[in-house]
Amino acid sequence: MAQHGDHPTVGGVFPAAFLWGAATAAYQIEGAVREDGRGESIWDRFSHTPGKTHKGDTGDIACDHYHRWPEDIRLMRELNLKAYRFSIAWPRILPRGRGGVNERGLAFYDRLVDGLLAADITPWVTLYHWDLPQPLEDAGGWPNRSTADAFVEYVNIVSRRLGDRVKNWITLNEPWCVAFLGYLTGEHAPGRRDLRAALAATRTLLAAHGRAVPVLRANSAGARVGITLNLAAVYPASDSPVDREAAHRYDGFFNRWFLDPLYGRGYPADMVALYGDNLPPVPAGDIEVAAAPIDFLGVNYYSPSAVRHEPSGPLQVGVVPFPDAEVTAMGWPVYPRGLFDLLLRLHRDYPIGALYITENGAAYDDPPPANGRVPDPRRIAYYAGHLTEAARAIAEGVPLHGYFAWSLMDNFEWAHGYSKRFGLVYVDYPTQQRTIKDSGYWYREVIAAGRVLSPEAVVRS
Ligand code: FCB
Repeated sequence: MAQHGDHPTVGGVFPAAFLWGAATAAYQIEGAVREDGRGESIWDRFSHTPGKTHKGDTGDIACDHYHRWPEDIRLMRELNLKAYRFSIAWPRILPRGRGGVNERGLAFYDRLVDGLLAADITPWVTLYHWDLPQPLEDAGGWPNRSTADAFVEYVNIVSRRLGDRVKNWITLNEPWCVAFLGYLTGEHAPGRRDLRAALAATRTLLAAHGRAVPVLRANSAGARVGITLNLAAVYPASDSPVDREAAHRYDGFFNRWFLDPLYGRGYPADMVALYGDNLPPVPAGDIEVAAAPIDFLGVNYYSPSAVRHEPSGPLQVGVVPFPDAEVTAMGWPVYPRGLFDLLLRLHRDYPIGALYITENGAAYDDPPPANGRVPDPRRIAYYAGHLTEAARAIAEGVPLHGYFAWSLMDNFEWAHGYSKRFGLVYVDYPTQQRTIKDSGYWYREVIAAGRVLSPEAVVRS
């Protein structure tokens, strides 16, 4: 395996037009799950099912962003953010999944978008960040092809309403997680465990994405449309041919399975062969639909994977501990170089016009605020390391145009509930009080300077 010890010194300059932002997702922050006509989502159902989330945590209240969004926009301004990536809750717009538009749900996002624009913050809208309306899951969920029809209807309604003001659209967040964590491992909603269902879900997701692209272009003049993938920076555990092949299969499972169809190559033949009968037949036209031209690819990167050959399981791949790496509170190894390797590989292997890092960040066990301060030096070091590698990738010619920190504020971290804090802003859940962490103040200065500052450069006001 490559040497993991040698990190370049922190630094790097970004182009003046580089877009600086932070990201969130509806179910993780909004709360207000029964308000203003919102319907039930698969995450409401899942988190209320005993044993599915840490301590039974749910998104019922979360960060109460549904009510506190004006304060949250003020925080974004204080952090100097130029862009904010958030998602729309499908069950607020269509409480039954299809048919019956809920005007109050649309009105909420209207207010939010207007508030952002008034604050000079560019909205980046994710249309699906995991909160499928429960009635659609009851009708078969993502493995069912008709969920793509429902998605296109939903996208049409949202983009007709917001498309005059929102110009940056992300169809789906991390379809790998939707399909494999939702329908294979069951760690995420809806919690099913069935490889065939997971593979069928990937098909529907890519079709839904591809069919939504022209709808967004039609409803939002000058729109820039993309998709966000969680891609693996994968390394073989040794130089042995079997471990290298294992790494290639893992790359097929995580990366090529989505990238190849999106960029017009269809599903990778090695993976099709490997999945065999578990793969439902490809409906005619699917390959063309998934390859609808997009304007950018969103990349979510958190940590690398080291893998080796293992005789068991359909993939015959085992994930091994990443050597010499610190880990975050999630247990995820910290390896900024993985971001550089991933960006260069994407640029080399696919005709990607523009790249954005749509999520990157780290959970640590932050202390509660004391005297208005939350010192989080490890998070600052994490951001500094990854931004340094992002700048290096740009210097190597990668068309990387922006970066969104995950996350604006601590929030409901899916199955981990509120036990993992990813925010630039600390949220005290009982009082809902927000406190900007040192990493937030550091990020603010980085945005102002347009370059990576040393971790000591925390200026608080
Ligand atoms: C990503 C999700 C995001 C958040 C981070 C930590 O997979 O897109 O919602 O949970 O992980």
